[in-house]
Amino acid sequence: MKLIDGKQIATDIKKEIAQEVREMVEAGAKQPHLAAILVGHDGGSETYVAFKIKDCEEVGFKSSLVRFEDDVTEEELLAKVHELNNDTDVDGFIVQLPLPKHISEQKIIEAIDPRKDVDGFHPINVGRMVIGLPCFVSATPDGIVELLKRYKIETSGKDCVVVGRSNIVGRPMSVLMSQKAINATVTVAHSRTKDLKELCASADILIAALGAPEFIKGDMVKEGAVVIDVGTTRVKSDQTKSGFKLKGDVAFDEVAHKCSYITPVPGGVGPMTRVALLKNTLLAAKKEIYK
Ligand code: GUN
Repeated sequence: MKLIDGKQIATDIKKEIAQEVREMVEAGAKQPHLAAILVGHDGGSETYVAFKIKDCEEVGFKSSLVRFEDDVTEEELLAKVHELNNDTDVDGFIVQLPLPKHISEQKIIEAIDPRKDVDGFHPINVGRMVIGLPCFVSATPDGIVELLKRYKIETSGKDCVVVGRSNIVGRPMSVLMSQKAINATVTVAHSRTKDLKELCASADILIAALGAPEFIKGDMVKEGAVVIDVGTTRVKSDQTKSGFKLKGDVAFDEVAHKCSYITPVPGGVGPMTRVALLKNTLLAAKKEIYK
């Protein structure tokens, strides 16, 4: 069994990005600039956005954090999105999800200029991804593809089962795995899937993205499978300083010894998700997707 060290790969990629930024700036370009909109004070969202800002500093990007309270109106948020769309210094921006219930997330996402949508959530980017055109790919699927590539994991002709069909992870992941660069045969499983255990146990590559801690047990995994654990459920813990720890969707101790490769939680997919946002911001700054 080989542990996929997402933390190490993410550190390597961050170094590559930092080097490229230094060269760009030395050649006279402006610093890439990522802005983040954060609404309210949800603990998870606060942590994720703080990491995104820290990552920007580490690679030499400029970053801006725009904060609103929970009672912000949809109109106020849309006005800020339009302002960032028109701000020529901002290369890309994100609106941290989830948003309060009185705001339509879809309306906000669709208001973002696709050329600045470094989360890759806008239907234009999603649609372009589906038909294989240059686009911003959402961060978690992009990070997973990068891990498979850097570990030179054979994907061509393999049976891949993606558990979960969210717009952010499962759905785009299934599309990417079936594309010509990867060539896997993909099944998307979800809450209504029949015989889920048998299906998972038939997978050469199992991608667990359902957000249910330790859902994938030892008897759901084939000997020699590649297992990618996307789960990051925050559970209370008295063993950590923050009072929380992350739990994956895979029961690691039961599953790991059966795998050829497996991602740990934390330190697997998570750091790659963070680095994928930096990659997209650099692409936006270089105008490489939408010329
Ligand atoms: N909430 C959970 N994951 C994400 C993400 O990747 N981007 C944004 N904007 N919000 C999130």
